[in-house]
Amino acid sequence: MHRYFSPAKINLYLAVLGKREDGFHNLASLFQAVSLGDTLTYAFSKQDSLTSNDLSLDASSKNLIFRAAELFKKKTGLSFHLDVHLDKQIPKEGGLGGGSSNAATTLWALNELLDCKIPLEDLIDWSGELGSDVAFFFSNGTAYCTSRGEIVRPLPALSAHCTIVTPKYGVSTAQAFSLMDPSMYFSGDPEEVLQGFFNNKPCYFNNLENITFQIQAELASLKSSLLHAGFDTVLMTGSGSSFFCFGEGAISEIKDISVFQTQFLNRPDNSWYSALVF
Ligand code: C5P
Repeated sequence: MHRYFSPAKINLYLAVLGKREDGFHNLASLFQAVSLGDTLTYAFSKQDSLTSNDLSLDASSKNLIFRAAELFKKKTGLSFHLDVHLDKQIPKEGGLGGGSSNAATTLWALNELLDCKIPLEDLIDWSGELGSDVAFFFSNGTAYCTSRGEIVRPLPALSAHCTIVTPKYGVSTAQAFSLMDPSMYFSGDPEEVLQGFFNNKPCYFNNLENITFQIQAELASLKSSLLHAGFDTVLMTGSGSSFFCFGEGAISEIKDISVFQTQFLNRPDNSWYSALVF
């Protein structure tokens, strides 16, 4: 049995730049891994199986964990079966990249466990077939991501505590992007915004936030409640439905939310992410 931590991510800013001919949108976003995460346990076995504490999980071959394993087999020509247990802590459809992180963790784990020594650049390249956010997790945990999100520029680690708040409902990423219109695109210079984060002038924004509020009106009132509770910064991550908050907030009165106290998380060169021990 081999255990791997699979962290969530937040988008410290997310600029949507325009729609592409392939239907995807060009983005520029500062991604940060956080200490909230799932745990994946792998064993080589006679047949594939996936179990989880989350009984609503899709354990079929469509799950990104198996899709990552299939991709690994296709690219390396190896043949094996995996018995996987997923201890799921990252909320689904929460904008926290849980499925993408599980896919990246699986590629990393297989490379390590089968001693394949596939270069990181190849894993990053392959991961584009699984989803736009997967490549980010191969960075050190802080990265500027562009194109669909799969072009990753690693950056020096940032450090902060943040509170992540997730309501009981999720938002479909595809639906949020499909409702974007050109008037909502970012017209500034996303690289300039990036510099601000490393010069003590961070500017937190997310071009998907307003459209997500149109899909789920309760999200706008949740953001107001979080600001009213005292946090300095409250921003939606990805296409929602989670918010990350900086500062202190008195949120015990807010109903039907899950609250996660997290730290920014980075991984050392040559090892995967580990859970923080408090
Ligand atoms: O790549 P991923 O599976 O996360 O994307 C889910 C959906 O979100 C895509 O099918 C696409 O409709 C939309 N999307 C987009 N532009 C991106 C990333 C995702 O339009 N950069």
